[in-house]
Amino acid sequence: MNWMATAGKVQSARSRGRATSVLREIIMQYEFARFWCYAVWAILFFICMQPRLAHGQNLENAAQLIDSLQELPIGLGTLPTLKIPADNPQSPEKIELGRKLFFNKELSGDHSMSCASCHDPASAFSDGKPRAIGFRGKELGRHTPTVLNAAYDSYQFWDGRAVSLEQQAAGPITSTAEMNLPDEAELVRRLNADPSHRQEFQAVFGEGPSLKNVTKAIAAYERTLITTNSRFDRYAAGDKDALTLHEKNGLMLFIAKARCSRCHDGPNFTDNKFQNTAVGENDEGRSAVTRQESDRGAFKTPGLRNVALHAPYMHDGSLATLEAVIEYYDRGGNDKKGKSPFMIKIGLSRDEKDDLIAFLKTLNGSVAADTLVGNSLPAASKMRTPQ
Ligand code: HEC
Ligand code: HEC
Repeated sequence: MNWMATAGKVQSARSRGRATSVLREIIMQYEFARFWCYAVWAILFFICMQPRLAHGQNLENAAQLIDSLQELPIGLGTLPTLKIPADNPQSPEKIELGRKLFFNKELSGDHSMSCASCHDPASAFSDGKPRAIGFRGKELGRHTPTVLNAAYDSYQFWDGRAVSLEQQAAGPITSTAEMNLPDEAELVRRLNADPSHRQEFQAVFGEGPSLKNVTKAIAAYERTLITTNSRFDRYAAGDKDALTLHEKNGLMLFIAKARCSRCHDGPNFTDNKFQNTAVGENDEGRSAVTRQESDRGAFKTPGLRNVALHAPYMHDGSLATLEAVIEYYDRGGNDKKGKSPFMIKIGLSRDEKDDLIAFLKTLNGSVAADTLVGNSLPAASKMRTPQ
């Protein structure tokens, strides 16, 4: 064995080790900086606003302060252009095929259920029920999240077990509890039975239907389910009259006193992380994926756009209204092991709670008409007008 070569290998393994630890250091510093950035904002707002809020013209002052900002803090603002994965480019034909598949009951074992049975456009792509109703009417363990703007999220499902929309879509089709289609062969057989389907798959993918192509087309359709032009978006884009004094006060509370933006930050109002808000009892949440004890009871921070349109709330649908959600946070949540340190009593007044809810309602947007192929999404028209 050549001694020099062995020494060289040891050397390069060491420098690789060093590079990983430098990288880890950088990531930790970034997290640290992000935390302090948030903390400084929160403290500044608190100092500026507290005395004024305690006295008479509090609303006017809150509005003046937030209006005077060039940019909203913590990345809150309009949604950026969506990144499309290189291996699944959008095309009008693919989106239309995905739309048809999303509403196609042939994708379920007994032909009774499509994606839209649970993600119903009339309920803002959720279902209005605490927990989803699956195959043969059986209640599932979790609440149906909306699909609107899910394309922006880094993780799919409450525990984040899928990292792309393509990966996610394969889940419900074959899950025995959900759509319960026996296997891919049956899926292909059913789709091939309709000659027009076969042609569409050929035109879009240059080959016949497969589970992979089905999930690609559905994901392409879901990437058009983006909402824009909410009153909050108009405000963030510079229209200072788009929010009322109460809503602006709600936005201030969201950022500062109520600490909501500690987790619901960025343009889609989520940190794309998993947090333990002490909701629910038996669901282990994120730890089912990571096997880390520290992730037990943590769930994906959901985005809050259109949140007023899809009650009830939380992974188990246990909070029926936005009022109940605010009450829950105000009291610091349930007692539970591993609860986030940011879940502590807030002490909001009745007026402040109302303002916070008024602000959340300004996040109702509409599905952009030009992303809907041929305007062919019947019930989504209900979503068009943001109050
Ligand atoms: C029986 C009701 C039901 C059906 C049918 C269903 N889903 Fe879901 N969907 C759910 C539930 C419940 C969850 C959350 C499950 C979890 O977190 O474990 C979910 C999660 C999702 C998510 C993740 C959203 C997020 O924010 O994490 C997407 C995207 C989604 N479904 C799309 C689809 C598509 C596409 C189909 C059809 C192929 C489909 N669903 C069929 C109930 C359903
Ligand atoms: C510690 C992080 C954290 C903080 C702080 C926080 N949230 Fe959340 N929020 C979450 C997580 C995680 C969930 C999902 C919890 C679950 O389902 O178990 C959630 C869920 C919600 C939901 C339900 C959304 C849905 O689709 O079901 C609403 C509404 C909400 N939060 C609003 C707020 C408001 C308003 C505040 C401030 C008063 C706030 N949150 C503070 C992390 C946080």
